[in-house]
Amino acid sequence: MPHSAFLNLHNISLAYDTPEGLKTVVNQLDLQLERGHIGCLLGASGCGKTTVLRAIAGFEPLRQGRIEVNQELLSTPEGSIAPEKRQVGMMFQDYALFPHLSIEKNIGFGLRKMDKTVRAHRVAEMLNLVGLESLAQRYPHELSGGQQQRVALARALAPEPSLLLLDEPFSNLDVDTRERLAFEVREILQKTGLTALLVTHNQAEAFAIADRIGVMKDGLIVQWDTAYGLHTQPANDFVADFIRREALMTQRAQAFMRGEVVAA
Ligand SMILES: Nc1ncnc2c1ncn2[C@@H]1O[C@H](COP(=O)(O)OP(=O)(O)OP(=O)(O)O)[C@@H](O)[C@H]1O
Ligand SMILES: [Mg+2]
Repeated sequence: MPHSAFLNLHNISLAYDTPEGLKTVVNQLDLQLERGHIGCLLGASGCGKTTVLRAIAGFEPLRQGRIEVNQELLSTPEGSIAPEKRQVGMMFQDYALFPHLSIEKNIGFGLRKMDKTVRAHRVAEMLNLVGLESLAQRYPHELSGGQQQRVALARALAPEPSLLLLDEPFSNLDVDTRERLAFEVREILQKTGLTALLVTHNQAEAFAIADRIGVMKDGLIVQWDTAYGLHTQPANDFVADFIRREALMTQRAQAFMRGEVVAA
């Protein structure tokens, strides 16, 4: 039911101008995400995940199709709404915190135009949401990687976006922290009721956090389903192999961490 979806990517195509000519990266991708749901794009490196997120944020022009958020038309090949005018928050893996600003100031960065008291209140609310009240005056280098990612999440949530995009938000964390944080982020997002689209190539992370997962291959979603659906009814051999291979790798990594096997 595409019209009631909060995020609607309707047959979008995206391409890059390269020295060798126009390179199509996403070809007629279709995706509908319900309000309050957490969706996840899962796929190998280079399959087009970041490109899709950048298009939703307004940084990539569409060659075909349209993007709607909350029934509002944001992008068509004929024109699009500027990124800063979209209520879309972003959290990227390499979207580092400002090293010279305290945690509090990092979180309040996008709220500079707000009244001081309102801003302070909002920052306090965000610190509370991610459970870092006691670290407000610290600087990023004084925090662990997981804590820094939570600050980045608080900063992305502070301006009250209507849609949150997360690109590999946990990829530079160790396996344990990554899974714990994925669950935490899911809880935080559920508390806010926000609709979010996450990108990862890690299946455990996708399964930990998402209501719906899109397995991608060469710029297309091969199957858009629940974790259960992907496991029990993979649409084709590609999905079945992908899920099986990833599950095996996760099991091996966990056994390795427990010291049960040595690296091959
Ligand atoms: N600015 C660009 N100019 C030309 N080609 C690009 C550009 N950005 C990305 N690409 C190409 O588009 C394809 C999709 O890239 P994208 O960054 O969306 O992949 P991804 O799924 O996010 O991969 P990863 O998991 O490695 O982050 C790749 O083949 C990439 O080389
Ligand atoms: Mg990427």
